[in-house]
Order: sequence, then C-alpha cells, then structure tokens
Amino acid sequence: MSVLVTGGAGYIGSHVVRLLQNRGEKVVVVDNLSNGVQQRIGDAALVQIDLASESATKTLVETMLEHKVTAVIHFAALKQVGESVARPEWYFQQNIGGLANLLTAMHESNVDRLVFSSSAATYGMPDVPSVSEDIVCEPINPYGQTKLIGEWMVANAATAWGLRGANLRYFNVAGAGSPELADTAVANLVPIVFAAIRSGQSPKVFGTDYPTADGTCVRDYVHVTDLAEAHLSALDYLDREHRSHTTFNVGTGQGSSVFEVLEQIRQTTGIKFEADLQPRRPGDPPSLAADVTRIRETLGWSASRNLKDIIESAWAATS
Ligand SMILES: NC(=O)c1ccc[n+]([C@@H]2O[C@H](COP(=O)([O-])OP(=O)(O)OC[C@H]3O[C@@H](n4cnc5c(N)ncnc54)[C@H](O)[C@@H]3O)[C@@H](O)[C@H]2O)c1
Repeated sequence: MSVLVTGGAGYIGSHVVRLLQNRGEKVVVVDNLSNGVQQRIGDAALVQIDLASESATKTLVETMLEHKVTAVIHFAALKQVGESVARPEWYFQQNIGGLANLLTAMHESNVDRLVFSSSAATYGMPDVPSVSEDIVCEPINPYGQTKLIGEWMVANAATAWGLRGANLRYFNVAGAGSPELADTAVANLVPIVFAAIRSGQSPKVFGTDYPTADGTCVRDYVHVTDLAEAHLSALDYLDREHRSHTTFNVGTGQGSSVFEVLEQIRQTTGIKFEADLQPRRPGDPPSLAADVTRIRETLGWSASRNLKDIIESAWAATS
C-alpha cells in the first residue's frame, strides 16, 4: 500500500503516519504546515502545498503518480468552530475547496480509496445521549457544515466514478501516542485545563445545571492512538470490501462529564485545584456520546484506552 496523507503533520494525522510507517507502508504527506510540524512525520516525504490553491490538483496528480499512491487519508482542514463562525467563507474555501481538488486529482490518477476526517460536529445538537450514524445531521456552525458537505462530496464521487470512501466522525479526541506528537493547540478541554492549572488559575466550567448525573456536560473522549488505529482498520476495510461509501462514528461509546475529567486530571497531575463555575454556554448539548455499534461490527474496531490513559498520556507529553 502507498498512502497519501493530507494534514499528516498535524496532531491526528501524524499519529496515523507513525502507525503506517510502523506497519511498513509507504507514506507521502501533503501539508501546508499552517498548523503542522514537520518533525512529527519522521522521514516520510513531504509535499508542502495549500490543498485549496489553484495549482494543487496538478501537484497532487504528479505526487500520486510519482509515489504510486493507492489510497488517501484526508485530514487537512481548518477545525476551529469559533473561527468558522467569524470567517465562514475562509472555512468553505479551505475545507471544501481542498477536498474538491483532492477528489479531482484522485479521479484523474485512478486512486479510488479515501478515508475522510469527519466530525461529531455534523450532528449539531442531537436530542439523544447516544448518537447513531443514521440520525439526521443538523450542524450548527460552518465548521460542522464543511464536514457534512465533505461527506456528501465523498458520496457523490462514489456514485459518479466509483470512489470507495469511509467517513470517520470523530468524537472528542485527546491524549498523545508519544510526546512529540502531542496536540499543541489549546482549544479542547484537556489542554485548556492543563494551561489553566499550570498558570495557577482555576479552569472554567460552563454549566453545572445540565440534566446529567453531576450537572456538567458529558462527552465521549477517544484516545488519539485508538482513533489512529481506526484509520488503519478503515483502510483495510476499503481494501477488502467493494462498497461505495460508509460513515462510522469513532468514539468509546462512554461519556465522561467535565467534573470527571477534572477529577482525573487532579489524580494524574497531583495538583489540587478548584473549578471556576460559570453559566452554560449557548450551543453546548448536555450529553453526547457515540453509538459505536457500526464501527465495531463492520471494521472490528473498538477503543481500548480509557480516560485515565488519555489524561496520563496528554500530561506526560506536555510536561
Ligand atoms: N482534533 C479533534 O478533536 C478533531 C475532532 C473531529 C474532527 N477533526 C478533524 O480531524 C482532522 C485533523 O485534525 P487535527 O486535530 O489533527 O488538526 P491539525 O490542525 O493538528 O492538523 C491539520 C493539518 O492539516 C494541515 N492543513 C490545514 N489546512 C491545509 C490546507 N489547506 N492545505 C494543506 N494542509 C493543510 C495543517 O497544517 C495541519 O498539519 C481535521 O480535518 C479536523 O477537522 C479533529
């Protein structure tokens, strides 16, 4: 297998690059390094382009032919919800434009296998605690919309020219497979809490009156190494199955509340801290966990790491 990984120098992509390398696969990374780190990809070839630029398709075709690429994993995208609300055109240009160029190049190069990074943000505010892939998606921000449209583009390419695609809807990704691959952004709960307690501040908790066991929001935290392994399972599935396209949730199926995450952080770090309790934020569903039946039954994948593993690996990677 020769795999082209877009966004391979990013947080999740670099974990997948590492697993592919360990398995002996050929890897070529396409990344503009806008949020990536070249050291994360080891000796993998790097093609440094903006996927959404006008010249990208031509370069991608050349790269796929040169490296005899047989499959693509597409991570490269902008991913900050707040920024997507402030700059929607930029998010559509980058995330949709980049995928359109990639699919065009794959079609031209006869590369017909794609694993696409989607997100639980496609669901919006579902009214059920355990979300299956079949519920109606109603994303509530431009970021989630770009992911849902991306899934439609994969489906349309499957119909039009025989692409075989797997859309992976990630839930809350955290942790690190090794220190140099850690998430450097302070945008998710775990890194935000780490940053607060390192500077001696109380981490903010938004909403303590939700209809959950302890009143705080519940989310499904999946270890980045488990998530990376799901991509290899998806690639193998596309290799052996000739289905057109399928969408899979990637989570543990178990939710953890914000207070549970904070308590695990206290235990792991040994730092005693209090939370700064704030009112609810608009747009936060009370409880969101993945129904993982489909990925378990179809790909034979399930998460093997728990919240403790996530927090310990994340803390060790950033200490
Ligand atoms: N991190 C999460 O919790 C999470 C959750 C759900 C979905 N996702 C999706 O997973 C994917 C990877 O996320 P991540 O957390 O590793 O993000 P990341 O920002 O660490 O990685 C994205 C990589 O893509 C590159 N990139 C971005 N735009 C590009 C472009 N136009 N051309 C070329 N390269 C470009 C960046 O330089 C970066 O290396 C994204 O598609 C994201 O939307 C992430």
